Amino acid sequence: MNEEQALHRILALTRELNDHNYRYYVLDRPIISDQQFDDLLSELTGLEHGWPHHAQLDSPTRRVGGQPLDGFDSAIHATPMLSLGNTYSESELRDFDQRVQKILGRTTPYLAELKIDGVAISLTYENGVLVQAITRGDGTRGDVVTANIRAIPSIPIQLRGLNWPQKMEVRGEVFIRREKFEELNRRRQENGEEVYANPRNFASGSLKLLDATEVKRRGLDAYFYAWNQEQASLGDQEAMLKKAIDWGFPVCTHNSGAGDLEQVLGFIRSWQSKRETLDFDIDGIVVKVNSYSDREELGHTAKAPRWAIAYKYKTQAASTQLISVDFQVGRTGAVTPVANLAPVWLGGTTVKRASLYNEGEIERLGLRLNDRVWVEKGGEIIPKITGVDTTKGERGHLAIQFPLHCPSCDAPLQRIDALHYCLNSKNCPPQQLGLLEHFVARKAMDLNSLGKETLELLWQQGLVRNPADLYDLQHDALSSLERMGKKSAQLIIDGLADSRAVPYHRVLFALGIRHVGETIAKNLAKHFPSIELLAAASLQELLNVHDIGEKIAEQVVGWFSDPDHARLLERLKQFGLQFTSGLGSEQQPNHSQKLLGLSFVVSGVFERHEREQLKMLIEQHGGRVAASLSGKTNYLLSGSDAGPSKLEKAKQLHVPLLTETEFEQLIA
Ligand code: IVH
Repeated sequence: MNEEQALHRILALTRELNDHNYRYYVLDRPIISDQQFDDLLSELTGLEHGWPHHAQLDSPTRRVGGQPLDGFDSAIHATPMLSLGNTYSESELRDFDQRVQKILGRTTPYLAELKIDGVAISLTYENGVLVQAITRGDGTRGDVVTANIRAIPSIPIQLRGLNWPQKMEVRGEVFIRREKFEELNRRRQENGEEVYANPRNFASGSLKLLDATEVKRRGLDAYFYAWNQEQASLGDQEAMLKKAIDWGFPVCTHNSGAGDLEQVLGFIRSWQSKRETLDFDIDGIVVKVNSYSDREELGHTAKAPRWAIAYKYKTQAASTQLISVDFQVGRTGAVTPVANLAPVWLGGTTVKRASLYNEGEIERLGLRLNDRVWVEKGGEIIPKITGVDTTKGERGHLAIQFPLHCPSCDAPLQRIDALHYCLNSKNCPPQQLGLLEHFVARKAMDLNSLGKETLELLWQQGLVRNPADLYDLQHDALSSLERMGKKSAQLIIDGLADSRAVPYHRVLFALGIRHVGETIAKNLAKHFPSIELLAAASLQELLNVHDIGEKIAEQVVGWFSDPDHARLLERLKQFGLQFTSGLGSEQQPNHSQKLLGLSFVVSGVFERHEREQLKMLIEQHGGRVAASLSGKTNYLLSGSDAGPSKLEKAKQLHVPLLTETEFEQLIA
């Protein structure tokens, strides 16, 4: 392919891929499969690598690039981001309607939209290109989070269609879909990490991340509802929403249609229960005057526009007494407070318990024992306490004491981030039992003949204290246990024997190292093809593994430096568990020493290899991989989209660049 042909293909692929993104994210009607999309994307990536100067500004390969930021700049909003007046009743909405009619001297149509429960964001487009994204901040000034916003795939970087204004400010809401949120929390729970309280906190926390790559991984979404500079010429909101879709903006298509107050009230009533069926959270309905010229006439107060109002649905809440607080120890040693409540009927079930998450939550709520508290059922199934009900009777007197010692084994607790941990993991019964349960779980060693009750029994009898003890179990000892027949005992023995075939990455996950979930275990096993290599890995080497940050790396190093864990591994190895990657012959590390003494930094996207693969190849050929450039770096192995600051630094330090092809020649 010559340069001209490449340019044509790059232009065509960029257009085509952006079009598919639009169909997928905005219209919700994709016309090709994910696999086909990925194939086109990798073709484009390859071409951009060959002809980097032809890569387009709006290339779909460029959503995430560059280095993490040190902090955010702040910027002033062109027009302040106001808030909305709230109402909770239809009669207040009628008052709103009266006020509007009085100022205008006539009726005017309204449009009601869903009030997305996310984080407000303001974007600026110049000549159709996204140039800046600012959070609400205090309404006047917010943080500049452009890189993070570019990492949200549904937000257009380059507008589609025609006739957008030269400069346009757009406002909307960033949020996460429920399904995605629950999946992420499930994963965090499995890894022994603190779960996110709710989707809105998650979204706002995500926009404050300094690393856009992590933002991309979080799967955020957005809906837009205001286009400041353009509105006048389009006449009304209903027309504007349609236009916005043509320009490529994701817009929530559930709205009442322009109509009178009765139409709006009908819309509000219908969403009262239907909102449960949405796959994102809303906290009400926004009622807006449809016509932009009427909005202008109505103006705004210092805080909120006079042309719009938010109708908020009342959450299902009940008031009851807080009787006591239990402190539970989980597998990872985290101690979580759980409230015991006087039973109360709420949204179709009797509620007796509610999670209090951590000590900070108790402090935030200012809870005391015997307080009357408000209990709410939000999107999540577990009800939560939202505050003290001060309307009835007296406050409780007894402060809630967060224990200083583990409620189970009495070891002193230690606070790490927001949680209190019992660090006596090896002698604390719920932690040991929790680890055993984790070890036998389906995604770990898959020992389904060993249920929770059997494990508890084995524990009580003192037969099993850690996973290696399971493999010492004898048929006789097992079958003499209460409620255990000869047959069940044999099933357990057989299951344990079979588990020797469970692959290395699952064994690694089964060990229950804090923060090492399924995915991280896979990455580690890929990078360190044997447990000996992993056990010997330094913090820096671990940080080179995909998706592994300092927190995880520290836990891994700490776990392997514990002599008890070394003994555990030794015993498990003797039983024949898998502790090496069963690489096929074509992937077998060839261990040449061609790169001995050479240090590499790898950056960018490559045509024929994943970045991680290249790092592994370097190590397999005796070289070293570093995360950042220094005077000691011998080569920067750079693909397309290599971080501009890395390239700049390489130039300063006179570190030569190496292409993928040159690298292949080096190790050939
Ligand atoms: S219109 C002057 N429409 O709710 C503000 N806001 O409580 C006009 N929100 O700041 C806002 N969905 O962050 C509007 N369909 C929608 C909305 C919406 C969510 C948020 C927005 C606003 C806040 C006011």
